[in-house]
Amino acid sequence: MDHYYTKKTNFYGNTDPHELIEQYGSPLYVYNENILRQRCRDMADFIPCANYTANYSTKANANLELLRIIREEGLHADAMSPGEIYVLLAAGFLPEQILYIGNNVSIEEMMYAVNLGITVSVDSLSQLETFGRHNPGGNVAVRINPGFGIGHHENVVTGGKKTKFGINCNRINDIKALIKEYDLNLVGINQHIGSLFMEGEPYIQSIRMLLDIAAHFEGLRFIDMGGGFGIPYQKQLGEKPLELELFGRQVAELLNDWASRYNPGVQFMSEPGRYVVAECGVLLGTVHARKENGGINYVGTDLGFNVLARPVMYDAWHDIEVYQKNKQADYSKPETVTIVGNICESGDIIAHSRQLPHIGIGDILGVMDAGAYGYSMSSNYNNRLRPAEVMIQRDGTHKLIRRRDTLEDMLRTFPSGE
Ligand code: LLP
Repeated sequence: MDHYYTKKTNFYGNTDPHELIEQYGSPLYVYNENILRQRCRDMADFIPCANYTANYSTKANANLELLRIIREEGLHADAMSPGEIYVLLAAGFLPEQILYIGNNVSIEEMMYAVNLGITVSVDSLSQLETFGRHNPGGNVAVRINPGFGIGHHENVVTGGKKTKFGINCNRINDIKALIKEYDLNLVGINQHIGSLFMEGEPYIQSIRMLLDIAAHFEGLRFIDMGGGFGIPYQKQLGEKPLELELFGRQVAELLNDWASRYNPGVQFMSEPGRYVVAECGVLLGTVHARKENGGINYVGTDLGFNVLARPVMYDAWHDIEVYQKNKQADYSKPETVTIVGNICESGDIIAHSRQLPHIGIGDILGVMDAGAYGYSMSSNYNNRLRPAEVMIQRDGTHKLIRRRDTLEDMLRTFPSGE
């Protein structure tokens, strides 16, 4: 059993968790540039097909420095809000490299994108009508719900009957009618059926359905198949990564066949978020207390759910590494512990009943695979400061890429605040 992903990958470069915490404070998000670049390349090359681009899904992690690297690696991007568009532009993405996938958005938000030259995808007939009324003759894309979805938790399934997303695939005639009524130019169709699959089959099935639908529309510039590519969160238990090679070839075959039959110039796109950034990020935190209650051994840390919400929101698993100062943690005599944070709620649990080496006060814990939906879902709940973010660069040196919140930040948005 391999307990130290960070050792295998030389994750911390020239430094180590204790030094990092000393310099930047705890908790702390740490990213590894080599891993990030590799994951970008995996996705950019995923489908061996000439007209294919990977659009990074910004919501997974919107740190400016990560976005710059992702752009450098040749990915384009999807945005879900004006805030994401704003940082993407700041990171150097061009308007034509961004797709704004709105969900229940105001006309002002649509126009924010339109006026910047960014294509908007609408995900209901009512939003298509709103768009058409304000942009007669304009370019638009529509998000299709292919009729089924997948995901690691019901809250992240975004296709099928139990979801607010997309236009039902049997409403093609209604889409066509609105396009005609407002003289719109349908430039693309997109879908996203959910987040985290470890086998390609459902994704491939959803592509088949999307391509069938795409055949009903002439002159599309792009077909966007969505994201959802999983990563192995249980590496310490031997979980294997998604097998991309065969999967990519199978998708390429479908796409090439469709393009040659219907539209050779069409651009195919995917929208990976988690796959690109999850594994390049580790969340470090410090152990401040130990307690036994009702037979449970609690390890008390500064890793509250304001810092990483996934375990509380989805019962998500993240592997934990233990870093003792100046010595290697001993895995030969593990104990069962429950790791909790410092937030005023009993549900503030980051890891339930884990078998880990003895953890003492002052030890540092590393929460693995925290680069996706980590910082981007963090909050100031309990007026806790959001952590700093640090990059371990290619040469092994580290640099600050987002400062920690300060106490002054807690007053910044009040009219009387400074
Ligand atoms: N495209 C659209 C339209 C999306 O809504 C999403 C994710 C993606 C692409 C990227 O999906 P990915 O490749 O990352 O699976 N907070 C949850 C995940 C929510 C995903 C929301 N949409 C989590 O921490 O697991």
